Parts: sequence; structure tokens; C-alpha cells
Amino acid sequence: MLIQSYVMKSEYNRLGTTDLKISKVGLGTWQFSQDWGVTEYQRAKGVINRAVELGINFFDTAMYYGGGLSEYYLGRALRETGVSRDNVVITTKVLADFLNPSDIYKSVRRAIELLGLKYVDVVMPHWPPCWHNFPTYKYARALEKLVTMGLVNYLGLSNFPLELIESFRESLSSTDIQVLQVRYNLLEREAEEQIIPYAEKNHFTVQAWSPIAKGALTGKYSIENLPKFDDVREADPIFHPDNFSKIAPLIGKINEIGKKYNKKPVQVALNWLMRASPTVVPIPGAKTNEQVEDFVGAVGWTLQYEDWVSLNELSKKVDISYSIHYVTRKIP
Ligand SMILES: NC(=O)c1ccc[n+]([C@@H]2O[C@H](COP(=O)([O-])OP(=O)(O)OC[C@H]3O[C@@H](n4cnc5c(N)ncnc54)[C@H](OP(=O)(O)O)[C@@H]3O)[C@@H](O)[C@H]2O)c1
Repeated sequence: MLIQSYVMKSEYNRLGTTDLKISKVGLGTWQFSQDWGVTEYQRAKGVINRAVELGINFFDTAMYYGGGLSEYYLGRALRETGVSRDNVVITTKVLADFLNPSDIYKSVRRAIELLGLKYVDVVMPHWPPCWHNFPTYKYARALEKLVTMGLVNYLGLSNFPLELIESFRESLSSTDIQVLQVRYNLLEREAEEQIIPYAEKNHFTVQAWSPIAKGALTGKYSIENLPKFDDVREADPIFHPDNFSKIAPLIGKINEIGKKYNKKPVQVALNWLMRASPTVVPIPGAKTNEQVEDFVGAVGWTLQYEDWVSLNELSKKVDISYSIHYVTRKIP
């Protein structure tokens, strides 16, 4: 009974133009790596178990996360929950360095093996190739081959600019992408310029990564209580005091609005994203079962227009500087 009160049957979207049903909030699993510190299997399993219990069926992982540890933990935990394969949708990502055809094949085979599956629902390049200069048409066709061979059901692109998305799509002959994965949260909204309108027009799903700005939007960190992180956030510009001090009014408003709806700040921040565009499916990462419960509490209600707008306006005033560490570093 308790479970039903968290997720209702209507709280699902479709993946892109497919018939696949995906929960309105997914779960990111980068947390199961040294980068975020959840390296113990039982802890990861607890998080995944709770997500499945509460109706989350959309999971994101990547080869990069723990060098395969996240894929392994995710696949193993899903099997142990007993959830039917047909009822979960998994996205994984190929490192940009592996985007030559033979490495694509080998690495996707490895991902499938680590996940313990026969196929992956969605595979996407994690970001565009940089120093290897792999031509777009070549890795697009190599990825398409995995679809025709039945190892992968659908393709996506993560962190790709519009020009490359179009060039990638033009290189495909028998399939199309269904997912665009981008950073999108109330502090970092560049995706609104081109990617989200493009996804809306083409009916792609937008997986919003870092949807709570790596914890910055949860209200538990403040300029007075900014810990020295010993994880991936150690050098994250958002948590630099000069940037973090700029977001206080927005966090204050998120807190205030949360009280009005009897919701936590994290739930307000996620609800805002889902309300921003129907294509957006946030994929927040959790380190504890309680954090997953919070994510699920972000659906099943809607921010009223005036509250959405007031956050919109405050958020637009935030201007995160990504060169902050460089420009403030003292050189001897
Ligand atoms: N495609 C890409 O390039 C890319 C890049 C980054 C991430 N991703 C994907 O997106 C997922 C999510 O992004 P992310 O991990 O960068 O950041 P995020 O989801 O914005 O933040 C996750 C962190 O916020 C804190 N948190 C989570 N729930 C909370 C709650 N209810 N209350 C308070 N704090 C909470 C946790 O850290 P603490 O408890 O330690 O504060 C957690 O590790 C990843 O797991 C990954 O799957 C993709």
C-alpha cells in the first residue's frame, strides 16, 4: 500500500517514439564507483532494490562509471530483485575513446556481459570523440550495426551539440536515435537553447543528468556549510564558494516553495525540470535508499505556474563561472 502511494501507474512516459514505458524519474548509477564512493555491492543493491520497489524502471549507467563496476552492480542487483527484463529500460554509454568500430563492438559486448543481459535497451556515445578524430559517420554506422544485430535496441547521444547530432542522424540508414542525454538542472540550463527544443520537435527523450546539481539543489549545503568533498565534487565549479554564494536566493526560494507543497527541496528541483518540458526525464543519482524515496516523491504533483515562474526567474540570474578555479588560483 505504501509503495502505491509513491508511484502511480500514470507516472510514466514513453521512451522517445517507442512503446517502451519509462518512469518519469529515472535513476543514475554513477554513484556506484570510486568517483562517488558507493563501492560496496550491498549498498548499491539496496538503492536499486528500493528504486524498483517504488516503480522506477529507467536506469542509466556507463562504461566509465567505476570502469564497469556500475554496470555490473546494476545488472546483478536488477536480477536479484526478480524484476522482469521487459519491465526495465537501461541506458549505457560508450567512452568517446572507444568509438572506432572494433572497440565499439568489443566494449558493448563487455557492457552486455557485465550487465548480465542479452541486449541493452539504449547505447550512446558518452560524449563526442575529441583527440581521436573518429569520423561521425563511421561510429554512427558501427552503432547502428549493433541494433541490426540485436545487441542494442535503440541509440542515443550524450553531450552532443546539435550539429553533431544531425550529422550522426544523417549517417544512419535503418534506425534513429531516441534519447539525448544532457546536463540539465536549475543552475545549468544550456540544454534549453537547442537540445530540448530539438528533442521536443523530434519526440526524443531528454535524460537530464546532474538534475539536482550534484546535491547543490537539495538545500543541505550552504555557503556556511560547504564541506571539503573527497569525491568527484572536489573541484566542481558549482561548489566553489564564489559560485555557491550566488545560488543562495534560489535555494532559499526552493525551500520556501517546498514548504508550501510539503515537499523537500530536491523534489521541487526535480519537479521544476519535468514541468519545463515533457521530454525531460531526470536521472538523479542516489547513495541511500532514502534519497531514492525522495526522487519518487518528486512525481505525482505539479508546481503551480507562478511557483515555476518564480524559480525560473531566480535561476536565470545565476551565472556559474566554470573558469573559477583557474582565474582565482594563486600562482607562486
Ligand atoms: N552523460 C554524462 O556525461 C553524465 C554526467 C554526469 C552524470 N550522469 C548521469 O546522471 C546521474 C546523476 O547525475 P550526478 O550523479 O552527476 O548528480 P545528481 O543526481 O545531480 O546528484 C547526485 C548526488 O546528490 C546527493 N543527493 C541525491 N539525492 C539526495 C537527496 N534526496 N537529498 C540530499 N542529497 C541528495 C547525493 O550526494 P551526497 O549525498 O553525497 O550529497 C548524490 O550522489 C549519474 O548517476 C549518471 O548516471 C551523466
